[in-house]
Amino acid sequence: MTAQIIDGKQVAADMRVELKEEVAKLKEKGIVPGLGVILVGEDPASKSYVTAKERACENIGIYSDNNRLSAETSQEELMALVEKMNKDPKINGILVQLLLPKGLNEAEVLLAIDPAKDVDGFHPVNVGKMVVGEKAFLPCTPHGVIQLLKRSGVTIEGAEVVIVGRSNIVGKPLANMLIQKKPNANATVTVCHTRTKDLTYHTKRADIVIAAAGRPNTVTADMLKEGVVVIDVGVNRIEDATKKKGYRLVGDVDFEAVKEKASFITPVPGGVGPMTITMLLYNTVESAKRAAGIEVD
Ligand code: GUN
Repeated sequence: MTAQIIDGKQVAADMRVELKEEVAKLKEKGIVPGLGVILVGEDPASKSYVTAKERACENIGIYSDNNRLSAETSQEELMALVEKMNKDPKINGILVQLLLPKGLNEAEVLLAIDPAKDVDGFHPVNVGKMVVGEKAFLPCTPHGVIQLLKRSGVTIEGAEVVIVGRSNIVGKPLANMLIQKKPNANATVTVCHTRTKDLTYHTKRADIVIAAAGRPNTVTADMLKEGVVVIDVGVNRIEDATKKKGYRLVGDVDFEAVKEKASFITPVPGGVGPMTITMLLYNTVESAKRAAGIEVD
């Protein structure tokens, strides 16, 4: 079997057209959704993610307040900027790009963000609401993964889903979202991680494998059953002298071999990545609507 490639760029572009129209309608009512962006330090991958997020805002008409802070920024300075954004009515969403440089307390910063502006869905209040199935901002990457499955026509209900990776940003929230008693969920979920004894035992019986381990070649063809759906959340930089930048991006999945066995697969780049940004835009628009008292479903 040769897999159908799930084109995340296309799905994201379709969703962004819908969001752009929605933003234009809000502007007619005098509402401009706003995102406060904070990047601390010089990590090249974080810099390029944040620039892409700011550009995406601009493209669909969301106002963004872009802040670049040095790696030497103190906890107090960072907390003060978050507080300022909490109070700023022009800002509906606050994005503090993770990971923060060493010495900064990530948990304290996330806790300081007003849950009503937590468009990343990382505040414990939103995490708790998501776990118990209440309306909450859903974290962007897991939400993007579910949108990709849904819009590709993959049945999630009743599926055996194996997630490889237990991060707070992807693995843990995704597991919780997929076990909800809701449409596009209702799956049976196993979360594997670095202490899992026999990873292949789990992946081999999965209908859907979601790789979010942050390591190339974590999922190879011999670990999968024929017809499996594979979503690759990994973004790894591999040195490559033939490229202008000196590196290329690969996921966590051995794409070339796995695509001959899977029914659906996401590429890297061009799979989950564009969806993460799109869901951030989605949450920011939703937050602006809530702030204006417009009903959101
Ligand atoms: N770092 C990696 N992914 C994310 C994300 O979705 N949001 C934030 N704020 N930081 C990240």
